[in-house]
Amino acid sequence: MKLGIIGAMPQEIDLIVDDFERESIQEIAGRSYHLGRFAGVDSVLVFSRWGKVAAASTATALIERFNVDCIVFTGVAGAAAEALNLGDVVVADRLIQHDFDVSPTGMFAKFEIPLLGISHFEVDDRLVELGKIAAEDYLINHSQSLEQEGPKVYIGTIASGDQFIAHPEKLESLRSAIPDLLCVEMEGAAVAQVCHEYKIPYLVIRTISDKADHSAAVDFITFIQEIARHYSHGILKLLAPKLAE
Ligand code: ADE
Repeated sequence: MKLGIIGAMPQEIDLIVDDFERESIQEIAGRSYHLGRFAGVDSVLVFSRWGKVAAASTATALIERFNVDCIVFTGVAGAAAEALNLGDVVVADRLIQHDFDVSPTGMFAKFEIPLLGISHFEVDDRLVELGKIAAEDYLINHSQSLEQEGPKVYIGTIASGDQFIAHPEKLESLRSAIPDLLCVEMEGAAVAQVCHEYKIPYLVIRTISDKADHSAAVDFITFIQEIARHYSHGILKLLAPKLAE
């Protein structure tokens, strides 16, 4: 089993890079693919850059060039559901491209991806469960609580689009279009589409770094530096060996 690990920002994977038993590194299209072992698992680790196109091309390279059997995307997201707080972790059980809409043609539903005939990508139940267990195990032992109750793990819908959401009105329109939405980010559903088309299992795990409102841009960089990078590393370290079993 060979695992592909993607983060959209260098800070999201830097601790994983430090802890990676690297055998070699390959540069493709401006990305550095680290080849070796992580937590004892044969892995390829890469920083994709931001957005759906960057994430999709990186996922494609992982599959086509490195033959990975499974891809895990780790990083941060803006909260969309009221219940979520900074430091909570979301494991996606379905992903939607919130800026994909060819419904004006009258031929497709909103969010539907033409020819695939689906508007969201479902994540394999076993992977969701393994992601949840790893995140919960990590948080029990390591969480640096920002809220009184301590961080929680949620399972649900993540929406991806090529926009950093930092306006309450925009967030509200996404919430009404996708009522079960938990959080927003910029890559997960693109990786999901590539993996769906190649029939490769995938998992997207996001730590809430901001509330997708006016303070989002400030909160999220500080949060990644101080907390989320530790979560990404810690959760992945518990998860990788379970995925390989
Ligand atoms: N990633 C982290 N926070 C985000 C936000 N508010 N919008 C989009 N992607 C994000």
